[in-house]
Amino acid sequence: MTDPIAAVAGLNPQSLLAATRISACVCVAVSLGIPDLLTDGPKTAAALAAETGAQAGPLSRILRALTATGYLAEQANSFGLGPQGDSLLAGGDTSVHHWIRMFQEVSFFRSHAELKYTVMTGGSAYAHANGQEMFLHFAENPDVGAVFDRAMTFETAVIAPAVIESCAFSRFRSVADVGGSHGTLLAAVLTVNPHLHGILFDRSRVIPAAEAALAEAGLTDRTDCVAGSFFKSVPAADAYLLKNILHDWPDDRCIEILKCCRAAVNDDGRVLVVERVIGHGTDTSLQAICADLDMLVLGGADNARERSEEEYAGLFDASGLRLERIIPTDADLDYSVVEAAAV
Ligand SMILES: C[S@@+](CC[C@H](N)C(=O)[O-])C[C@H]1O[C@@H](n2cnc3c(N)ncnc32)[C@H](O)[C@@H]1O
Repeated sequence: MTDPIAAVAGLNPQSLLAATRISACVCVAVSLGIPDLLTDGPKTAAALAAETGAQAGPLSRILRALTATGYLAEQANSFGLGPQGDSLLAGGDTSVHHWIRMFQEVSFFRSHAELKYTVMTGGSAYAHANGQEMFLHFAENPDVGAVFDRAMTFETAVIAPAVIESCAFSRFRSVADVGGSHGTLLAAVLTVNPHLHGILFDRSRVIPAAEAALAEAGLTDRTDCVAGSFFKSVPAADAYLLKNILHDWPDDRCIEILKCCRAAVNDDGRVLVVERVIGHGTDTSLQAICADLDMLVLGGADNARERSEEEYAGLFDASGLRLERIIPTDADLDYSVVEAAAV
């Protein structure tokens, strides 16, 4: 596979700007469900427009753009899936389809278009573009929040095997997934480690869905779902998983979360932070760079961010913890496990 950062670095400005237009077409097609409508065979633009409620004229121009770039293939005025089309299908939890939908429907596109707002004012481009901060926007628009949740589940489902492989869970008896959402990562960890007891910790609004998901995975007897705030306290456990939690918060808030973990963790326990780690100079993946830009437009200048090894070490030092090691996982999404022990 081509190294993604080299592929982007090698694009001339014309191609780079063209990619933004094509990616908008990909997002619209996925959000209308067009790739999935073509699994039984090619259809005309008029038929696709009728099925999706779109205008046939503009839709046919988008279909032409997707045909030119290999996502679709045109035969006798009908469009079918092209060589890259399968990658857009909804499929299961591990389909990138859910991440693409997030760009269109959760307004990530509009946020990145307002990047200059963040650069000039330090404010959140997401709030500027959408009229309100992201999690408030989700609370008031549950359909939008559901698209975001599916995108998060996609990432977690893709990286879970690599996290499990990296962390040697056999040394623990209990593991708490802090801000664990619907429990995708916790369920994966418990399924391959039958000796472990699990705790799912999140806000109360998330708990019913987490309980249902863990029940469906047959894990009700081995899990406790606990509602609370990680700024106040977390339940006792041997190991704490924090995936995509610290990158949502500024340093002082991260230290509050980590201090709660330190207060509750057993003396030989571990805090396992699952995040992308920013490297030095060109030693940073495209995934980490893009994730940091997402954090920038979502949270503004002094809020959410991806961090370097030194920055994680500083957060742990300030929280009564010590950085033990950083384990890169082999997942394409470039997550690492940043492991800390109690001092
Ligand atoms: C970006 S999501 C990450 C979810 C999950 N760890 C994953 O990677 O898919 C952040 C999670 O933190 C939870 N959360 C936000 N504030 C919280 C708080 N004060 N206490 C506990 N959980 C919180 C949210 O409900 C959400 O599930």
